[in-house]
Amino acid sequence: MSVGLLPTDISSKFPINKMAKSKISRPVKSRSYILIIMLSIGIIACSKSKSVIPEPPVKTRPTNLAQYNLVTEGLKDYYTSNEYFNLGAAIKPTTVDNPDEVKLLKRHFNSLTAENVMKWSTLQPTEGTFRFDDADKIVAFAQANGMQVRGHNLCWHNQVPDWIFKDGAATASKELVLQRLRTHINTVMTHFKGKVYAWDVVNEAIADGSDTYRASKWYGICGEDYIIEAFRAARLADPAAKLFYNDYSETNPTKRDKIYTLLNKLKGLNLVDGIGMQGHWNISAPSNELIIDAFDKYKSLGIDIQITEFDVSVYTSDSDSQSPYSTDLAQKQAVAYGRYFSLFRTYKNNISSITFWGLADNYTWLDNFPVTGRKNYPFLFDESYNPKQSYFTVINF
Ligand code: GLA
Repeated sequence: MSVGLLPTDISSKFPINKMAKSKISRPVKSRSYILIIMLSIGIIACSKSKSVIPEPPVKTRPTNLAQYNLVTEGLKDYYTSNEYFNLGAAIKPTTVDNPDEVKLLKRHFNSLTAENVMKWSTLQPTEGTFRFDDADKIVAFAQANGMQVRGHNLCWHNQVPDWIFKDGAATASKELVLQRLRTHINTVMTHFKGKVYAWDVVNEAIADGSDTYRASKWYGICGEDYIIEAFRAARLADPAAKLFYNDYSETNPTKRDKIYTLLNKLKGLNLVDGIGMQGHWNISAPSNELIIDAFDKYKSLGIDIQITEFDVSVYTSDSDSQSPYSTDLAQKQAVAYGRYFSLFRTYKNNISSITFWGLADNYTWLDNFPVTGRKNYPFLFDESYNPKQSYFTVINF
């Protein structure tokens, strides 16, 4: 929205972006009356009506709820895809039936991820039976509203049916498991071809401790080959799709280096396009140093970076007891969000998407993880879908 479209008494209250200010022309100087002219410059420079160069559209940047309610811009307008990155949210199929949530989605986001309904257990609960209805609903909504879709995910150790790993009563052979993996990936990616631009091909295959790989059923039967084969099948199924390896604790140096080694191998085979950093962070961690080191390390591979499951927990440890969303927590969270987005801006040439793992504080998986029933408030919007202090911090840069 340009200032000209604002209610007249509103435009003057909102900061105008720096680029717009710098384009305001200065009046012509005369050789005489230097003193008068110098005094005048300050006044005239502030007067947009004297401008001869048309100003670019400016964005209003509200700093409180009253101002927010008077304008229409959202996150995706302050962080445009061209200059910054996509802004996304993970949603359920029912989200698109909720008018409040649809309103919020349309205002702020240009990318969607299915929170659960593109996972294997939903898409192919029994062998050969594919159920796309729920996922299709989200994709149709995205298409109708000009939003992109990130696919999540094709191969994971959770929310995965047990039949994959069985052959009758016995454990399935490596060949059978890999064949099922290829069939799943090919069927799913073919179904969504042209509608889903990026896929988390393998999720969370790296171990947290000293082992390299997670001791999953996939790994137990196939070794690391399942990872390579999943990416191979994905590349084959939809050569235009961007393929990601996705994981958490992605800034932890030990885990980061293991992820890097895997990515390096996949990159050498031209099978991976990016790292999905889940970004399940909190109000104090990770530190800037850890984030910068991780960004630098991943980007050195020449791959894309996406933050795929962003949320900022108000708790810093499992032993923190439940707290209301106090002013103190709101301030700490705003500082953290400001810090994280400042880094995202610094790395905007390497980061193509930031997806939140939810929409607003009325619903988050963190209410039950890692502590069951401990209410959390990890997003930029509160339980009534209103912007929080964190939102204003994120958009005022
Ligand atoms: C992981 C998965 C997500 C989601 C979250 C918790 O990060 O990648 O799909 O299940 O856990 O909700």
